[in-house]
Amino acid sequence: MTTESSPPGVATSGGQATWSNRFDQGLNPVIERFNASIGFDLALLQEDLDGSVAHARMLGSRGVISAEEAQRLIEGLETIRAEAAAGAFRPGVEAEDVHFAVERRLTELLGALGKKLHTGRSRNDQVGTDVRLWLRRRIDAIDAALVRFERALLAQAERHVDTLIPGYTHLQRAQPLSLAHHLLAYVAMAQRDRERLADVRRRVNICPLGAAALAGTPVPIDRRQTAAELGFEAIYGNSLDAVSDRDFAVEFMAAASLLMVHLSRLAEEVILWASEEFGFIALTDRCATGSSLMPQKKNPDVPELVRGKSGRVFGHLMGLLTMIKGLPLAYNKDFQEDKEALFDGVRTCLDCLEAMAILFEEGLAFRPQRLEAAVHSDYANATDVADYLVARGVPFREAYQLVGGLVKRCALEGRLLAELTLADWQALHPAFDSDIQAAIAPRQVVAARRSEGGTGFAEVRRQLALAQERLEGEADTPQ
Ligand code: ARG
Repeated sequence: MTTESSPPGVATSGGQATWSNRFDQGLNPVIERFNASIGFDLALLQEDLDGSVAHARMLGSRGVISAEEAQRLIEGLETIRAEAAAGAFRPGVEAEDVHFAVERRLTELLGALGKKLHTGRSRNDQVGTDVRLWLRRRIDAIDAALVRFERALLAQAERHVDTLIPGYTHLQRAQPLSLAHHLLAYVAMAQRDRERLADVRRRVNICPLGAAALAGTPVPIDRRQTAAELGFEAIYGNSLDAVSDRDFAVEFMAAASLLMVHLSRLAEEVILWASEEFGFIALTDRCATGSSLMPQKKNPDVPELVRGKSGRVFGHLMGLLTMIKGLPLAYNKDFQEDKEALFDGVRTCLDCLEAMAILFEEGLAFRPQRLEAAVHSDYANATDVADYLVARGVPFREAYQLVGGLVKRCALEGRLLAELTLADWQALHPAFDSDIQAAIAPRQVVAARRSEGGTGFAEVRRQLALAQERLEGEADTPQ
């Protein structure tokens, strides 16, 4: 029954085995392959077995099958789990999907009893259950990866509270910052990602099992028993909604897309910082790559790949929305397309989080001297000159204009504000005094921004401690 050896267009395969006796002929082998999801949905095997074990136990406890039959079904399912672990469960395309593959193997193992497993259940509620179980576990893995990533940022932040970095708006030098403050902004984003995923998880964790094909079942099942055994928090209230809801997949991909946006923005900064022009970081050999031609090159492939991979996840979000938008109730085969999107979206998030964590753990080193030189080489303290005058009674807009003119003159003469004499200052405005230079030194400028959430050193230390506290006791490896 291998399809490869069949001439194209000739119906030869074992399709008959899959469906009811309504079918006389097997599937065209090309169509058989086209229809099958076994090529990718074998990834759901553990969840499919978990769901079937719970279903078999429930059928037994409700007296739909005998307790002894339920026990044998469960043992058969565990045998398949062991076979898979040993690499001995390798269903081919004729099995169509993971659900049929398991049922078929169960029937080989148990004979007629295997055919009782599907009582009161359809593949429609079954696949929905499997995907939710699968995604629930992966959300937990992504959460752990986010914790590790945050910890890597926090460790760098802890080292660099007192390191200054130019702050930018419009990618123009704006005001100097504590480097830790800059890094903590990404910790805040990651924290929101964790919250969003936790919220999505609540709606992933609702059980469709027992909705059967679309309308429920006359079999006296107990949906709450299977849901509880599988760790679901609730069951769907409407059987049509249960088998045709993929909102949770869209919500997940939206949250994953934002997560990737955050990683991509950070990746872009790392790429800029590693350039000769910025020179704010050095890439270590652990995470940098070379050029095949230019011997001097050290390339930031890791953040470039993260930036590049973000597009796949946004694409999956659009793909899912488009796949669902025209579907009448209830199940449609289109839904089979949700899996590769979810699998790839999850894989991409996990890979990128791990790579970015490693990058901040051991892949880069900030260059304090370059950073120090950078914050002393511009007019990013101009606002503070204006603030100095404001503190001495000059209206802000007047001070702003005065300093604007001053910066223009200095730029023409190639002088920094730090190079002005007291006479220069007082020629501009009599309110200037000998403390002006100290007041606009970059370190003082940063220290002075004491407002809550600002870059003042004490405030940054407080924010850092809060972020560390939030992560206390949180697992950073999948449990
Ligand atoms: N492989 C299918 C999927 O992934 C399983 C459900 C099939 N249900 C059906 N009525 N054909 O969606």
